[in-house]
Amino acid sequence: MAAMTEFVDREEILSHLVNSIETKRRNVNYALVGPRQIGKTSILREVVRILGDKAIVVHLDFSIHRYSPEDFSRSLMQSLTGVYARRAGGIKKLVSRVLNIFQGLKDLRRLRFSLSIELDSQGRPQLSLKPEIAEKRIKEKELIELAFAYATKVAEEAGTRVVVIIDEFQHLAEFASYPGLKGILDIFRHALDERGNVSYIVSGSRIHFITNILSDGKSPLFGRFTIIQVGELEEKYALELYMKARPKPSSKEARAAYSLVGGHPFYLLAMAENRRENERPEETYKRLLSDPTGALNLYARYIIAEDLGTHAKSRQSRFLKILHALKKGPLSVSEISKQTTIALTSLPWYLQQLISYDLVIKSEDGYYVRERVLRDYLIGIQNDI
Ligand SMILES: Nc1ncnc2c1ncn2[C@@H]1O[C@H](COP(=O)(O)OP(=O)(O)OP(=O)(O)O)[C@@H](O)[C@H]1O
Ligand SMILES: [Mg+2]
Repeated sequence: MAAMTEFVDREEILSHLVNSIETKRRNVNYALVGPRQIGKTSILREVVRILGDKAIVVHLDFSIHRYSPEDFSRSLMQSLTGVYARRAGGIKKLVSRVLNIFQGLKDLRRLRFSLSIELDSQGRPQLSLKPEIAEKRIKEKELIELAFAYATKVAEEAGTRVVVIIDEFQHLAEFASYPGLKGILDIFRHALDERGNVSYIVSGSRIHFITNILSDGKSPLFGRFTIIQVGELEEKYALELYMKARPKPSSKEARAAYSLVGGHPFYLLAMAENRRENERPEETYKRLLSDPTGALNLYARYIIAEDLGTHAKSRQSRFLKILHALKKGPLSVSEISKQTTIALTSLPWYLQQLISYDLVIKSEDGYYVRERVLRDYLIGIQNDI
């Protein structure tokens, strides 16, 4: 349903990205950073659509595919080849060009695997890689380096800018847990520094994590990306989105929804699409938050599970205790300790984790839960832990 709603606004970000990509002299890498469901992927899809044939654009989305390093490299090369094929003028020509590119890269890097191209039933080129006889498997590091180098070569051969979009980029950084890929950020930095006519656009909803990777002076990627913050829609566009998603909306209703959930596109769409006849927006909001199958209830639980899921049960319950303590407004560390009975000395670690997940914010008045929807969800449920 939501995907059917016409795209609204984001003019400024879109024109900035598109102009930058179209300007031959400049080559800037961008990072779109913003909370979950704020519209990053939608913006990236618009960029792909607007650019059309003006560049070779590929979009790899870790939120759809949990790529392994091998899948990622293969998909990157596969997508590049697919888009390149459409403009190379004839599949035969393409196949020989691609094979030439690979031969060149292989010789240069002394890679120990071979590549072949077959056409699938619809005539689309499919790449396959095989380790050479003596090797049991392809080294992941070599494969990732090859994929980035391939992007650069395709841009060179095609005489066109290549745009590589990596959505939910934090998962690429997590490749560091694979043997041989501890230095994934260094590998990526190297690829960026040798990128030629390739622009990279990454995005991610783990705001703290991504911002650290891209702007910490000690990170290998420091200074390589221009960060664009994606925030809520302005009121005018928030109302427009709400109205588009309702068969017969009144502007009063749209304004009421906006005053409850702000300019967050996912919340607005949830409100618009789930509103029942004769229900006031406040009632819709309450119902969606409290009903276990309500869109906002599911969403709040999903965020909590996703962020705290990596911790052991005992820790999860302490995190939840803290969130419950904070739902009614800012508290100091000692107030949190009193309410949760968690020792004062343990709290800084827990709070720091919650901040790094973007669930909690520290202000002058104390710590509080960042999102109103999450606060209202917590207020609505019993603190039964
Ligand atoms: N500008 C927009 N116009 C219309 N609908 C939008 C817009 N931005 C976002 N949406 C809708 O809001 C929802 C969330 O958008 P999207 O998936 O782009 O967010 P995201 O930031 O990529 O989320 P995530 O962090 O979960 O990947 C989708 O249903 C999308 O269709
Ligand atoms: Mg997304």
